[in-house]
Amino acid sequence: MKNQEEFKLSPTRQLTDIEKGLIWKKPLSHKVSDEELRICKEIKRNWHRGEMKIANILLEGDAGSGKTQLAKALSAEFGLPYVKVTCFADMDKSDVIGAILPVISSDRLENMEPAEQNTKDEVVEYRFYPSEIVRAYQNGYLLEIQEPTVIRDAAVLMALNSALELDGSINLPTEIIRRHPDFIAVITTNRSYAGTRPLNEALRDRVQHTEKMDLPTKEIMIERAMSKTGYRDEKVLDILADIIIILDKTARANAIKGVAGMRSYFYWADAVAEGASAKESLYHKVIYKITTDSEEIKLLEESLKNNGLLASLDQIEIELKKKEFLMK
Ligand SMILES: Nc1ncnc2c1ncn2[C@@H]1O[C@H](COP(=O)(O)OP(=O)(O)OP(=O)(O)O)[C@@H](O)[C@H]1O
Ligand SMILES: [Mg+2]
Repeated sequence: MKNQEEFKLSPTRQLTDIEKGLIWKKPLSHKVSDEELRICKEIKRNWHRGEMKIANILLEGDAGSGKTQLAKALSAEFGLPYVKVTCFADMDKSDVIGAILPVISSDRLENMEPAEQNTKDEVVEYRFYPSEIVRAYQNGYLLEIQEPTVIRDAAVLMALNSALELDGSINLPTEIIRRHPDFIAVITTNRSYAGTRPLNEALRDRVQHTEKMDLPTKEIMIERAMSKTGYRDEKVLDILADIIIILDKTARANAIKGVAGMRSYFYWADAVAEGASAKESLYHKVIYKITTDSEEIKLLEESLKNNGLLASLDQIEIELKKKEFLMK
C-alpha cells in the first residue's frame, strides 16, 4: 500500500484543529489519477529548490473532468488545508484582499445612555477583514482559484498576479503580508472556446505546472461511475459512456453550447441502475442538459444513430427488461 505520508510537504508543521478540519479527506469513491500522481511528484521534488519551487498549478479543460476534485486531492496528499475562491466578472480589489468594515464596539455601546446610542457614528470602529485568499496566502493553505478568466478589472488581475510570485507579498491597508512558504495556488478553468475570454497571459505565465484536463478515457469514466453509483454492469456502462463521448464530440463540432460530461454520465448511470428506462432517461439526464433546442436535439440524435448507438441502447433496454423479468 502507498505510504500515506509520502507527499506531506511539511510533516512537522502544527495545524490548529480548524485547519486540520479543512484538509480534504478522500472519499472511498476517489480514484487516484495520473495527473494527481504527476503533480504530487513534481511539487514534492521541487519543494526545497528555492527559485525552482513549484507552487502555482493550472488545471485547464473540460467541465466535470475532475479539476476541483484534483485540487482537493492535492490538499489531502500534501496535508494542507483546502480553501477556494470562485471568481466572478465584477470582482473588485476588496474581494481579493479583503475589506475594511465598520464595527460597533460592544463595550462602548454598553456604557452609553440609551439616548446617546443613536449617535452611532461615535461608537463605530473600522476593522480590516482579510479575504479568503489572503488567509490562505498568509497561513499557507492550498487555494483553488476557480475561473479567474471571468475577471474584468485589470487591477484585480494585477493583485492576483503579484500574489502568485513565489516571493510575493500582498499590500493590505494595515500591513504587508508575505507569501507563506506552504501556500499553493491551483487555478482551475474551462478551456476557452469562442466567446469566452482566455486566461490572462501574465497569470498564465506564473504557473509552473499545467495539466490539460479532458473528459477522461472510457475506462476511467466507467471506473469512476462504478465507484460513485455502486452499479456494476460493465456492458451497460460501456454503452452509456460511448453515448456521452459521441454527444460531447457532436456538441463541440456543431457549436452547441451545453456539455455532456462526467456529471451527466453519473446521474444517467444511476437512474438506469435504479431501473429507469435507459432511453427515456437519456433525455432527462443528458440531452436536455445539453440543449432543449429541437434542431440541436435532432443533430445529436442523428449522430447517435449514425454511430449505431441508438440500436445499442435499444438492445440493452431489451436485456435490462429481461433481467428485471427474471428477477421477479
Ligand atoms: N479522481 C476521481 N475519482 C472519482 N470521481 C471523481 C474524480 N475526479 C472527479 N470525480 C467526480 O467527477 C465529478 C466532476 O468532478 P469535478 O467537480 O472535480 O470537475 P471539474 O472539472 O471541477 O468541473 P467544473 O469545470 O464544472 O468545475 C464529481 O462528481 C467528482 O466527484
Ligand atoms: Mg470545478
